[in-house]
Amino acid sequence: MEHNRRKFLQFLGYGSLLIGKATLLGPLSGCTKFKIPSLSPTSEDKLILAPGLNYSIIAKFVDSINEKEVFGFNNDYIDFLALSPNDLILWINHEYVHPLWVNGYERTKANMEKERKLVGGTLMRVKKINQKWEMQKNDIYNRGVRGDTPIPFADNVEVLGSKIATGTLANCAGGKTPWDTILTCEENYYGFYGERSADGSVTESLLNWQTHFPNPPEHYGWVVEVEPKTGKAKKHTSLGRFAHESATCSMSKNNKCVVYSGDDKNDEHLYKFISDSSNSLERGTLYVANLDKGEWMPLTIENPKLKGKFKNQLDILIHARKASKLLGATKLDRPEDIEINKATGDIFIACTNNKPKKNYHGQILKIQESEADHGSLKFTASTFKTGGHDSGFTCPDNMVFDNNGNLWFTNDIAGNAANKGPYKGFGNNGLFIVPAGGPQAGEVIQLASAPIDAELTGPCFSPDYKTLFLSVQHPGETSKDLKNPTSTWPDGKRPTPAIVAIEGDLLEKITG
Ligand code: FEO
Ligand code: CA
Ligand code: CA
Ligand code: CA
Repeated sequence: MEHNRRKFLQFLGYGSLLIGKATLLGPLSGCTKFKIPSLSPTSEDKLILAPGLNYSIIAKFVDSINEKEVFGFNNDYIDFLALSPNDLILWINHEYVHPLWVNGYERTKANMEKERKLVGGTLMRVKKINQKWEMQKNDIYNRGVRGDTPIPFADNVEVLGSKIATGTLANCAGGKTPWDTILTCEENYYGFYGERSADGSVTESLLNWQTHFPNPPEHYGWVVEVEPKTGKAKKHTSLGRFAHESATCSMSKNNKCVVYSGDDKNDEHLYKFISDSSNSLERGTLYVANLDKGEWMPLTIENPKLKGKFKNQLDILIHARKASKLLGATKLDRPEDIEINKATGDIFIACTNNKPKKNYHGQILKIQESEADHGSLKFTASTFKTGGHDSGFTCPDNMVFDNNGNLWFTNDIAGNAANKGPYKGFGNNGLFIVPAGGPQAGEVIQLASAPIDAELTGPCFSPDYKTLFLSVQHPGETSKDLKNPTSTWPDGKRPTPAIVAIEGDLLEKITG
């Protein structure tokens, strides 16, 4: 039995088994000497917070940010450039549009034009005035970087005859570079302009934009770098093309920028890019992980296993998935967000689930680079936490560490699966904390519950850690018609994605 159980757990995760209460994040911090109150799972159509927390909405879908542009749909990743602790240029991803709430399902050119202006990202100034965060409408920094914004490829690269792509889309999670630019990740890009088939044709897609705008699928699936003050953007082919969930930056011991990124698809891979430079991502080497061997394997044209199989280096980067398989990269259970515990250098990877393999609850993996150097090509991998009814969470997705080393994460049970089958008893999606110290160290505690069908995404702390910015994405997503929405959050009428600022005594105690 134990052998089978062990084999099963190894199949879920990798390496040594580190599950249960004793699993700590790293050096204990003195933060949590008190008991954090926990919410029970619920299916209420509200954003419910643990006692001691409150929220206010900063911006919601279709709010004007300036005279010509609105806040886009399905807000996701949040990050910022701080002009001062209470004055930020926020960046917010807009992952996709749900035609029901935007324009109906008719696939006209005009509808697609409208949709293209609602995905990508928003830059907008927010200030904390009289203890309340407020969007500064019409601020000079407010602008959209959207599905129709021309964006050049970095380093003068040409992809299918073009140095410029039209727009960014499928912007899920992201990261921030050491030089304070934002990275926004193009995840499920094939839902917009389709994907290239083996015979060279382009597949149908969810939104079918390719019917009126025949942009090549190869122009999407990249990591896009955005300057917060100007909105100037570029697409990095150097980091490879796949369903990038996030792009988490660090520095190697020899001062090169390192970026970790997962491909959120069943049985896809974990990647690491090591830049040739300390302040640019334009050139460097992309590696893919073999977790059993603890090796980062280079996706380069010089690699003997890839030689002769691709036209050139760009061809490898465009087809990173195919190249990774030729190297024997480890198949993972949909790697989503990646965060680094600054106190230890350990890298945490949320693997949300892998339903065909009957892994319904996912796990959080931990990678420790050899010699604690993010530039190392050797590492050890283990399972930090396994999802399930015993551990009290399922489908981990976005994560963030606070200033005291506590791990916060949100989860993502698909809308049509909530409260059914393996997900019975988990209620709506939520926000959770794993304290690094104190009486509940290593436990999983629920702090928020999302409205019906919504997912909480993009957790991001303000510079003083007194506010947690959070996205409420796709409330009411399984609605079939406008008159009978499954959620009416936040106004009691029509479900609307929004970003909120969470504050309160409890947060100040945890991060104080
Ligand atoms: Fe957009 Fe993998 O979540
Ligand atoms: Ca995600
Ligand atoms: Ca994160
Ligand atoms: Ca997800």
